[in-house]
Amino acid sequence: MIPDGVGFEAAAGLPLTGLTALRSLETLELTGDDTLLIHAASGGVGYLAAQLARELGATVIGTASPRNHKKLTAIGVTPVAYGEGLVERVREIAPDGVSAVADFVGEVREDTLALLAEGGRHVSIADPSVEEAGGHWVWVRPDGARLHMLLEKVAAGTLDVEIDRTFALADAAEAFEVSMAGTANGKLLIDATR
Ligand SMILES: NC(=O)c1ccc[n+]([C@@H]2O[C@H](COP(=O)([O-])OP(=O)(O)OC[C@H]3O[C@@H](n4cnc5c(N)ncnc54)[C@H](OP(=O)(O)O)[C@@H]3O)[C@@H](O)[C@H]2O)c1
Repeated sequence: MIPDGVGFEAAAGLPLTGLTALRSLETLELTGDDTLLIHAASGGVGYLAAQLARELGATVIGTASPRNHKKLTAIGVTPVAYGEGLVERVREIAPDGVSAVADFVGEVREDTLALLAEGGRHVSIADPSVEEAGGHWVWVRPDGARLHMLLEKVAAGTLDVEIDRTFALADAAEAFEVSMAGTANGKLLIDATR
């Protein structure tokens, strides 16, 4: 059952992204003593993981396009631009490296290993080969009981689910195009009742 105070869009946008974010942090055994680097912190999974990590008290550095930096600062995350020079930019913020890395985009393994302090842990949801480098591969399917726990956080106002737009069923092709273009800011939903 959806808790009072959770709207249709938040409830529809949360399942896979929220549970993947949660499982990733649990696999990392993240605590408030950690400095966590999130690759793709402004995406569907990353934005939720960033909020959950901050709730635990961790220091969070998140990669995102500059247009999304304000959004990350607002939830207590230090934003950095991804791409060329990422390792140097993160080192300026965390000179001793980070204790945990969550990869939510893939193809960032070298940067992860360059930034991870000794004994650090790392997970990926987008690169199964992470296990060859001592990391953990996270693969999630929705689970009702755990989802309810996240919905309670949404109802309490401590977890924000970002929705870009809701399309009517007749506009599903347009939704697919926006999704493929990678320009959405938050989840794209299709409301089959419209
Ligand atoms: N293993 C699992 O169980 C599982 C579950 C869910 C999703 N996934 C996979 O995980 C990935 C992320 O899912 P999502 O729903 O979070 O996707 P999403 O909402 O589309 O977000 C992707 C984000 O990646 C960022 N990005 C693009 N290129 C980047 C780069 N080179 N470095 C860092 N960030 C970059 C973009 O940030 P900007 O907009 O700021 O540029 C964008 O916000 C997808 O590949 C998805 O298929 C896996």
